Amino acid sequence: MSAAVGVQAADLEAGKATYQTCVTCHGPAAQGQAIFPALTGKDADYLADKLTRYRAGEQVGPNTPLMAPHASGLSDEDIANVSAYIAEEFN
Ligand code: HEC
Repeated sequence: MSAAVGVQAADLEAGKATYQTCVTCHGPAAQGQAIFPALTGKDADYLADKLTRYRAGEQVGPNTPLMAPHASGLSDEDIANVSAYIAEEFN
C-alpha cells in the first residue's frame, strides 16, 4: 500500500483546516509539548507515513493510544494535505 502523494498535489488550505484538530496537543507552531512530539523539521513523507501507520492501528510509540484516534478518521487525501501543510508551514 502506498501512502505517499506528491506534495505538489496537496491542498495546503485543506491541510491547515485539518491541523486545527491537532493543535491542542502538537501546538500552534507544531512545537510539541511534554509527551506530545514536535512535528517541526520533519518532511511530508515522514509525517504521512506515521499518520498512515497510526490509522492502520499500528503501535508506533509508547503513547500511540492518544494519537491513533486522531488519525483513524483521516482519508489518504487528508493525510497528504495535513502532512504537506505541516512540512511547509513549520519546517
Ligand atoms: C490528544 C492529543 C493529540 C492529538 C489531538 C493529535 N496528536 Fe499526534 N501525537 C500525539 C501523541 C501522544 C503522539 C506520540 C504517540 C506515540 O507515542 O506513538 C503523537 C504523534 C504524532 C506523529 C508522529 C511524530 C513522530 O515524530 O513520530 C505525527 C506525525 C502526528 N502525531 C500528527 C498529528 C496530526 C496531523 C494530528 C491531527 C490530525 C494529530 N497528530 C493530533 C498526540 C496527539
